[in-house]
Amino acid sequence: MPTIELRRLTKRFGRTVAIRDLSATIDDGELFVVVGPTACGKTTLLRLIAGLIRPDRGEILFDGEVVNDLSPRERRVRMVFQGRDYALFPHLVVYKKQSWSNLSFPLKLHTKATREIARRVRRVVRRLGIPSEIFPRRPAELSEGQKQRVALGKALVLPPRVLLLDEPLSHLDPPARAEARREILKLHRELGTTTVYVTHDLAEAFLLADRVAVMREGRFEQVGTPREIRERPVSRFVADFVSAYRESVLRAFS
Ligand SMILES: Nc1ncnc2c1ncn2[C@@H]1O[C@H](COP(=O)(O)OP(=O)(O)O)[C@@H](O)[C@H]1O
Ligand SMILES: [Mg+2]
Repeated sequence: MPTIELRRLTKRFGRTVAIRDLSATIDDGELFVVVGPTACGKTTLLRLIAGLIRPDRGEILFDGEVVNDLSPRERRVRMVFQGRDYALFPHLVVYKKQSWSNLSFPLKLHTKATREIARRVRRVVRRLGIPSEIFPRRPAELSEGQKQRVALGKALVLPPRVLLLDEPLSHLDPPARAEARREILKLHRELGTTTVYVTHDLAEAFLLADRVAVMREGRFEQVGTPREIRERPVSRFVADFVSAYRESVLRAFS
């Protein structure tokens, strides 16, 4: 699994500077969580790492090799998109044995061994709590939470080199969310995939992350372990973010 290095990345959309001169290193096998308010550039950053868009300036390196000119497929990354279609195949059902379906698709591209495919699908289905009743359904017939789980499953049946998750649990209700979070952690420990996880929820970031990057206006304001962020915020912005989180925790227990 690669180390990802971001070197002085800048990305503009017209007059908007979505990413400004951002540098960071994400370690091999790390679960790196990017947290920040709406429109601070989180999705843009993931799309840059995935290779869906190109930076205006700067470089992205995987294990020391510049990947700026490589396609997402060549980079061997997988991204679970935020909202709407989640990159599911609209015409395929969730899962059907021995045929093309959303969960078996990535595996069928790689192997013809149907038992191996069934075994791997069973594993993620169990892990992510995808009920077999929804196997015959197409994405349009699923709830938002079900779609999110299937999208995660599709990304994880064949572990990628780099996994990019864009607010992957935002449509699950709190209990399902807590459970899915635990399973993501377990799967991450098992697979050791370098993972960049985006959320606007600092509590979620603290629960999952090896390291957290607090993002603001296209930059990382602070990168550190959850403990470092909690105990030694480097700026007023991070301190305010942490105190809002503390208040929400207190509210939850009062
Ligand atoms: N394709 C695009 N065209 C124009 N502006 C965009 C595009 N994508 C993102 N932006 C702008 O870039 C900024 C960062 O957006 P985004 O990365 O989606 O933020 P986040 O995911 O943190 O909410 C926002 O101001 C957004 O409006
Ligand atoms: Mg976003």
